[in-house]
Amino acid sequence: MSDQSGPAGLHQRAHDLIVRIERRWASISIGIIILLALMAAFAGIHRATMPQSVVETIEPRIVHMRGEFVETNLGSALEADGSVTVRLVGQEYSFTPSCLVVPTNTPITFRATSPDVIHGFLIEGTNINTMLVPGYISVLPARFKKPGEHLMPCHEFCGVGHEGMWARVRAIDKQEFQKLIAQQPRVSCDNQ
Ligand code: CUA
Repeated sequence: MSDQSGPAGLHQRAHDLIVRIERRWASISIGIIILLALMAAFAGIHRATMPQSVVETIEPRIVHMRGEFVETNLGSALEADGSVTVRLVGQEYSFTPSCLVVPTNTPITFRATSPDVIHGFLIEGTNINTMLVPGYISVLPARFKKPGEHLMPCHEFCGVGHEGMWARVRAIDKQEFQKLIAQQPRVSCDNQ
């Protein structure tokens, strides 16, 4: 670094400057990668160790006997705001009701639980998918755009009868649903 004024010195200074800028950008990009990795690790660990912010619990032994999930309260119910709540229980090895009826183009909330072991369900052709854990109420929003029948299998291995544990979901026209619910407080298509 003796002569910095000649063309060679100028070239050297330009070179040094470029190297410095490159190193700075390299450090910044490595820093971003480390930050993203830390954020992903934190999100994964945090979610795995913390319960959901709102978790409704229920005593599994009394599910059938009293409270929200007694048999007469299962099926689809119309709420005051026009939305529909579908209550169901998954147990070894069936769902109750085994055939659900939902209206199209209506906000729907599934509320479900299990009195025995972990089950789960998904509704074919939709993104509806949840686990049923004894002691907890699974709450899931849904909406059906068009009428049709969907299969709803249990997707958590729950024992020897797991393969045969499934229900049906029948999405019907909103007006048709209104007629059904006017005749009975809870609607399902069991025995149909
Ligand atoms: Cu219930 Cu698998």
